[in-house]
Amino acid sequence: EEVSPIQALPSEILLRVMSYLSPRDLCRSAQVCRSWSDLARDGQLWQVMHPARWAQGDWRFGFLPDEDPDELPVYGAMGGEEETDLYVVVDEDADFDESAESDNSESSNLSYTAACIQREAKMLTSMVRNLLPHVNRSVQSLVLRGSRGLTNGLVYKLIVSCPNLEYLDLSHTNVSDVAFKGLGKRGAGRKLRHLDLSGCVNITDLTLVRLSNGLGRLVSDSPNVARSAENKKRKEASKYICCDFSNTEGNSGARYSSDITAADFPVPCHTGCAQSSNQFEDIECCEGFSERTFCVSETPAQYQRTCCGSEQKRSPPSPPNNDIASAWTCCMSQEGNRPFQGDKNARDNSRRKNNKDNDYADNDNVGKRTNNCSPNNGDVDKDFDEAEDVTRGLAYLDLSGCYQITDEGLGSLASHGGLPRLTHLDLSGCLNITAEGLAALADNCLSLDHEQFFYCDNITDGPFSDTASGCQNLQCSSRVCCRSGE
Ligand code: FES
Repeated sequence: EEVSPIQALPSEILLRVMSYLSPRDLCRSAQVCRSWSDLARDGQLWQVMHPARWAQGDWRFGFLPDEDPDELPVYGAMGGEEETDLYVVVDEDADFDESAESDNSESSNLSYTAACIQREAKMLTSMVRNLLPHVNRSVQSLVLRGSRGLTNGLVYKLIVSCPNLEYLDLSHTNVSDVAFKGLGKRGAGRKLRHLDLSGCVNITDLTLVRLSNGLGRLVSDSPNVARSAENKKRKEASKYICCDFSNTEGNSGARYSSDITAADFPVPCHTGCAQSSNQFEDIECCEGFSERTFCVSETPAQYQRTCCGSEQKRSPPSPPNNDIASAWTCCMSQEGNRPFQGDKNARDNSRRKNNKDNDYADNDNVGKRTNNCSPNNGDVDKDFDEAEDVTRGLAYLDLSGCYQITDEGLGSLASHGGLPRLTHLDLSGCLNITAEGLAALADNCLSLDHEQFFYCDNITDGPFSDTASGCQNLQCSSRVCCRSGE
């Protein structure tokens, strides 16, 4: 069989040749043969993605030589003023019918702009479905500036499926908090160093909470050495948190930690433990038990009914009393007070049952059960404790025009070790923040370049007021500013 000369080229050479092709040509090349298909889906070729630009017919790859990554033009159909609120609803689960590209009848009733947005949405959906599964771990930069075919669902999938994402530009899009729900899942967002959300008016504090969780909790490698030890200690303690006494009188906010013993609690602990000791190890043991823990305010009948939610017939514990010693010793294990050793499923079941049964601790004398034994619930990184490479390396954060953000959101960024590598922070147009919130964040951003620190001119007593820069939105018609129109 005759082999064409190009087929005889080593794959390294072919890959180099393909690196000069546009995304569209790469997709066409992938249809030639199996070997070309494999090469065209090599991760090296897809490290920088500009889907919004591609959807507009500009098929260039990566950042252009004369292009400042921090000052990208707004792609997407942002043409007429009257069309700036135009978005489309896309069924991301619908099959992508390529023939629709040539079917003018479908879009005949849409304006040219709407048709562009529709095409962009289809392209993004197809990209997420067909390309990302092959190249996701190689994607480092994702630029979707001005995209109006973008949906929250697509952003969620992009974030979750690209764990090595460093550069994310979603500025001037319609995304909202739900799009960032994937931050922190399986390490998503951990490597972010550039995040541009300017003009995303739907963003609230919840996005910042999710961003902070996604960046991880700083435990090492930090200029904030003084905080490092404290963070590590908190991380250790968080393994053992299974009670929240925040509503217990006299113990506001108190949680179990390695420094706390039973003697620190003036009221009976509602969590029993198999060990008779009242030292810290008991708390560790509590976390690991597969059984639902025991509330001292419960009657044996209540316990038997609710324990693990199961129908297991077991002897009820001794009637509880207010003696703290008995509280520490009356925990049950199905196999005879043996500490549970690591069946994660059983532990999760136990926690679920704790959630289900949490009404049983409704007693003024004891702390109520938390909704979950772990504080890292919901949005929180499941691999949190395993990640030792956390640097919270975000260096660029643009929230210009995100006017719904408050001090609470800034506080979440300042937590977990702050943002020690942040140099650029734009909070122009954030009307609901105060000098106190700014100061709390700035105190935890030790690398902040004052000239790259922007906030509202009306906050006269903000941090670095003499050296920080003013609001960037004064002359901007597309982002919020309290002085717009002056
Ligand atoms: Fe106050 Fe722009 S937001 S001056």
